[in-house]
Amino acid sequence: MANSVVIGSQWGDEGKAKVIDYLAMDVDIVVRYQGGANAGHTVIVGGKKFVFHLVPSGIISPDKICIIANGVVFDEEQFFQEVDELAEQGINLKGRLFVSDIAHLVLPHHKTQDAQTGAKIGTTGRGIGPAYSEKALRCGLRTSSSKRLAPMLIDSAHYLYDAWKKGKNILFEGAQGTFLDIDHGTYPFVTSSNTTIGSVYTGSGISHIDEVIGIVKVYTTRVGNGPFPTELLDEDGQNLQTIGGEKGATTGRPRRCGWFDSVLLRKSIQLNGFTKLAITKLDVLNSFKKIKICTKYDIDGKITEQFPSNPEALAKAKPVYEVFDGWQCSLDGCKTFEGLPENAKIFLNRLKELCYNVKFNMISIGPDRSQTIGIK
Ligand code: GDP
Ligand code: IMO
Ligand code: MG
Repeated sequence: MANSVVIGSQWGDEGKAKVIDYLAMDVDIVVRYQGGANAGHTVIVGGKKFVFHLVPSGIISPDKICIIANGVVFDEEQFFQEVDELAEQGINLKGRLFVSDIAHLVLPHHKTQDAQTGAKIGTTGRGIGPAYSEKALRCGLRTSSSKRLAPMLIDSAHYLYDAWKKGKNILFEGAQGTFLDIDHGTYPFVTSSNTTIGSVYTGSGISHIDEVIGIVKVYTTRVGNGPFPTELLDEDGQNLQTIGGEKGATTGRPRRCGWFDSVLLRKSIQLNGFTKLAITKLDVLNSFKKIKICTKYDIDGKITEQFPSNPEALAKAKPVYEVFDGWQCSLDGCKTFEGLPENAKIFLNRLKELCYNVKFNMISIGPDRSQTIGIK
């Protein structure tokens, strides 16, 4: 009966897929609605790892309907590669995977062009910018029916409206993250779609969303170029990268790492209207003696709590930190928020306070589906 959307609150790779997989247990349909195979979404169930680029991350939950809606730029070759891999892993896809009949195609020349021109931004090379450009120029090709794809093509906006009216629960799977948004992100170091809340409406045709869930990693990462105020180029940054396994799921590139940035997060909440926050990767901080949260920026000696829209100002922003004692123990076996170590609760309570006190709906303490603390 509820439509929910999961959106990355930072620069992508927040752990969206893990949350999608967890929430998918209680929904009927999972929908991708923007981006394309630039996404790398990892789900681990019982130690078995799945990485999705186009197929919605709900597909491992049996019986879920999964839809790639109109806002996605669709790479047919990549899609069928994923479909074949899933079939090899014993996942039954029959009758439950559909693609919009008006999604734009990513074609080989888009990928060639991206490889030639994407280096300045540090794109994934998946042809995303060129494909969205042709869409905007009104000369793009849409999902023409190859023999294999034809049985999967549907009017997804109509399908979703009908399902909603029949009381189905629909979960929308955002790709990338808020600050890669082509309008609100750190332009030009962004992707070529809107990644903030509006794209769920245009990218799927749905007109009603009940719950907007922001995925929040307890530190910050970024792949590719562009400003990153809390980036750490020291041992702490190296440790976050190593312990957090921060390597791109699509390109294998190391992710840049830094402390949690609440200035960025407040802007993300303003842009998306998150009704709940899902906290991820708390376990990665287990061994740190001291943990920092950026509360404000210092820009040319002026202290501000507001994320600057001007890229030159952002490039000059120096983080102002609050420092916390670490908990320095494993979180294995923690089943509730109350059961977490005292210092972890102090850290999370302050993080929440700095994020307009938006409620947490879960805390992830490891990559596996089972390593999740649900919060009612
Ligand atoms: P997405 O793009 O937002 O879906 O995230 P990615 O899959 O690109 O990157 C998240 C990475 O962190 C993946 O390797 C996940 O398996 C892993 N992960 C997710 N949640 C947790 C967590 O709570 N703890 C740890 N240690 N790893 C996690
Ligand atoms: P998920 O869904 C992290 C980044 C690229 C590059 C910029 C533009 O896994 O969170 P593009 O290929 O989209 O033209 O690249 O955006 N980027 C991502 N970074 N996670 C992603 O997706 C990303 N998708 C694109 O690294 O900086
Ligand atoms: Mg990813």
